[in-house]
Amino acid sequence: MIERKENCPLHDRNTFGMKVKCRLLLELDSPQDLLSLDMESLPKPVFVMGGGSNLLFLGDFPGTVIHPSFKSLSIQESPSGYPEGTVLVKVGAGIVFDDFCGWAADKGLWGAENLSLIPGEAGASAVQNIGAYGVEAKDIIETVHVFDKNTRTFSDIPCGECAYGYRTSNFKTVWKGRFIVTAVTFRLSRVPAPKLDYGGVRSALAERYPSEEELTPSMIRETVISIRRKKLPDPSETGSAGSFFCNPVISREHFLSILEKERAEKGADYMVPHYDVGDMVKVPAAWMIEQCGFKGVRHGGAQVYPKQPLVIVNSTGDALPSEILELERRVISSVNERYGIVLHPEVEHVGSVPSET
Ligand code: EPU
Repeated sequence: MIERKENCPLHDRNTFGMKVKCRLLLELDSPQDLLSLDMESLPKPVFVMGGGSNLLFLGDFPGTVIHPSFKSLSIQESPSGYPEGTVLVKVGAGIVFDDFCGWAADKGLWGAENLSLIPGEAGASAVQNIGAYGVEAKDIIETVHVFDKNTRTFSDIPCGECAYGYRTSNFKTVWKGRFIVTAVTFRLSRVPAPKLDYGGVRSALAERYPSEEELTPSMIRETVISIRRKKLPDPSETGSAGSFFCNPVISREHFLSILEKERAEKGADYMVPHYDVGDMVKVPAAWMIEQCGFKGVRHGGAQVYPKQPLVIVNSTGDALPSEILELERRVISSVNERYGIVLHPEVEHVGSVPSET
């Protein structure tokens, strides 16, 4: 069934809480609905939205927003050709990703626990390759089930063909606009596989469970949730789109020049936080934003979140898209001036800023 809403307010459908509207919203509850949609006749542009947790609407959206609200979930135990203990779970694109993580942990299935509490829906997890605490969606994605808007057919794309990278995939680049994700099959396992090496997880786990009981996915899920709650805004209180910027990866030479400059200012022992990525170095954008003095800085209703400066929040609930954009511009320009690095927003900007006339 397709539910149509004209001039639909979107403020409770984007986690940033931008008070914008779209000309038409279509809520689809089954993949078959896609076959009955005449895309050509819809107000343009057409935008497919999941949980609205990684977007910034720049103004009222003049076209159609399609929300695939597909909520089916099916399980295949011990599929042939897979290691013992494997369980394949096909998750409808409209299922809230964290509900899936909670369901998997409750069933004692390993794989999704480090991804707990990431906002958004399952469909978007496969587009964006969400990640946290040393795990990315691609590590557990088996197949992405899609509807091809060009050929009006359904197909299954194996993980290996999606060109997954850091917060990116073919769905965001060469296939942009072509497919609508209908479901994602995740590969979980009954065989314990705790991933604790990402900074902070092991020690937070030891604090919560000092007795070294046998680990369960629920124990790791609860630990990850507690870490996230300490650093990130509570979505029920403060609007945001999670990390606003991607962490930049720079050459080792560039990193060493930054280190040298910082040491000249802060002392010879100072260490710039970083992670090696092959020959390159990833420097946390949060650190650079903090060094540039942006922690807690406000512009109108927009604010750089004091506890995690990688996040921009709608601190008053009434922030305008233009205020978020201005803060974004100031952060990018200061970081570039100080470190010679242009930060790229992780958050997708949708539509355009209304002209002032
Ligand atoms: N840091 C600072 N100052 C701060 C906060 C952090 O200097 O105020 C530095 C610290 O050195 C810290 C480092 O930044 O060690 C990295 O911080 P953190 O581990 O919190 O992760 P992140 O790089 O800021 C990424 C993801 C998050 C994910 C976390 C945990 C991106 C863009 N963001 O953030 O994802 O939860 O790692 O794995 O990669 C999201 O995508 O919305 C999201 C929240």
